[in-house]
Amino acid sequence: MIKKLRKAVLPVAGLGTRFLPATKATAKEMLPVVDKPLIQYAVEEARAAGIEQFCMVTGRGKTALVEHFDVAYELEATLRERDKQDALASLSGAQSEPGSITTVRQQVPLGLGHAIWCARAFIGDDPFAILLPDDLVLADKPCLAQLADAYYQTGGNIVAVTEVPPEQTNRYGILKIGKDDGRLVEVIGLVEKPDPKDAPSNLSIIGRYILMPEVIKYLALMERGAGNEVQLTDAMARLIGEQPFHGLRYDGRRFDCGDKIGFLEAQIAFALKRPELSGAVREFLKKYI
Ligand code: G1P
Repeated sequence: MIKKLRKAVLPVAGLGTRFLPATKATAKEMLPVVDKPLIQYAVEEARAAGIEQFCMVTGRGKTALVEHFDVAYELEATLRERDKQDALASLSGAQSEPGSITTVRQQVPLGLGHAIWCARAFIGDDPFAILLPDDLVLADKPCLAQLADAYYQTGGNIVAVTEVPPEQTNRYGILKIGKDDGRLVEVIGLVEKPDPKDAPSNLSIIGRYILMPEVIKYLALMERGAGNEVQLTDAMARLIGEQPFHGLRYDGRRFDCGDKIGFLEAQIAFALKRPELSGAVREFLKKYI
């Protein structure tokens, strides 16, 4: 029987060094694309895929991420008093069901695999999603919901994948591919950040995963991989052959918001999707090109 997907882990302990000084006193996941912080895009995408319980893997200086989903009594009362209905309505996605968000601290930056292992008590015996808020996906059907459909179809591990330029394989987890129907691909191997000359393909993992809880026992080995970090990709690779493992070429466009250019491009792409902004954005863009 395929278990329902209800849980998501959000690794948000990173220092955000690529966005200093903006991230000196605030979490990089609080940086907004248009008017919504990255963390909220991730939470809304997860909710749209049926996720009910969230675990943020945080670190020092990240309290704003939890605050963001709390009830802001004074703010809401003031907005109500002033009859600011639009502003009030804009807060709805930033409030979570009571008790649905929990946090654990990573304490030491030993890598993504270590961050996920820190959430082991939350994960328990259940399948779970991982969303890396830096990766923002613009799609008609949210990326994690596409992944969840594939999970209910295959009953196993699924990662969202996209082709990258061959010279960029050293930035991502890369798939070795078995059967491929053009959308769903069988994963027969996984390598973290291989040099282009060693890469088994140019199909890369983006920050959306649905994994089975057995991955935790491999993460617990704490083996160091690329960059001397505990890599999630290496633990996932050990599940291949034991459980179904697929990559899904999702429909949509991914923006790497951990990178300045990707972040700027996301601002433009998301603004152009907003009816109230797109006209003005188109107009001013003409001035610059
Ligand atoms: C992480 C993963 C990598 C994946 C990438 C997607 O790398 O380790 O496998 O391809 O996220 O964004 P990071 O970006 O943390 O270096």
